[in-house]
Amino acid sequence: MQMHEIRKFMVAACLEMNRTGLNQGTSGNLSVRVGDSLLVTPTATPYDRLEPDMMAAMRIGDEEGRFSGPCAPSSEWRFHRDIYRARADVGAIVHAHAPHTTALAMLRKNLPAAHYMMAAFNTHEIICTDYAPYGTPELSALAVAGLGKAHGVLLGSHGLIAVGDTLERAMWRAVELETLAHQYMLACQMGEPVILGKDEIEALIPRFAAYGVTT
Ligand code: 13P
Repeated sequence: MQMHEIRKFMVAACLEMNRTGLNQGTSGNLSVRVGDSLLVTPTATPYDRLEPDMMAAMRIGDEEGRFSGPCAPSSEWRFHRDIYRARADVGAIVHAHAPHTTALAMLRKNLPAAHYMMAAFNTHEIICTDYAPYGTPELSALAVAGLGKAHGVLLGSHGLIAVGDTLERAMWRAVELETLAHQYMLACQMGEPVILGKDEIEALIPRFAAYGVTT
């Protein structure tokens, strides 16, 4: 994809975050890996005012957070950069303060495999990290450790991160993670959900390599 096409696709994904209820106001951000750089949404910008040229470009290897572009990058550029450094398989990252995942993160609860769709996240449990203030190296370290090899993590008292090889798949997982959290919370209101065994989920994980949205 050409650079301008990627930027346009990022704007479309941001508008989709608003449309699906994943996001509101200026919360949330997303990024795409482009070679040895990343493109990330600008900080504090309502998505309905976002333009393709407003994305900030940053070198993944750079320590200082230098960027090029007309707008400063998301305050969370550090965890975007550090996840790309830690995970060669990740090509896009979505962060949102979606209601149900954030409610679980406020309770500091991991999300267990009460539904088989957990296998889409390459894990039998989505970890909820401790709290650290937004934009800090501490939050970034918690995010990278909590994510591990999984495709999603909850940030304590904050929100969700979902990753994918493409932006389309990271977005798909963000919506899926919010849905799983919603379903889990509904089930908890009626009783104690049955949690699928680690072996059940592990048996499904290979099938998810070829399942889900593809570009
Ligand atoms: P930015 O507007 O800087 O991307 O921050 C939003 C957010 O969600 C911080 O966690």
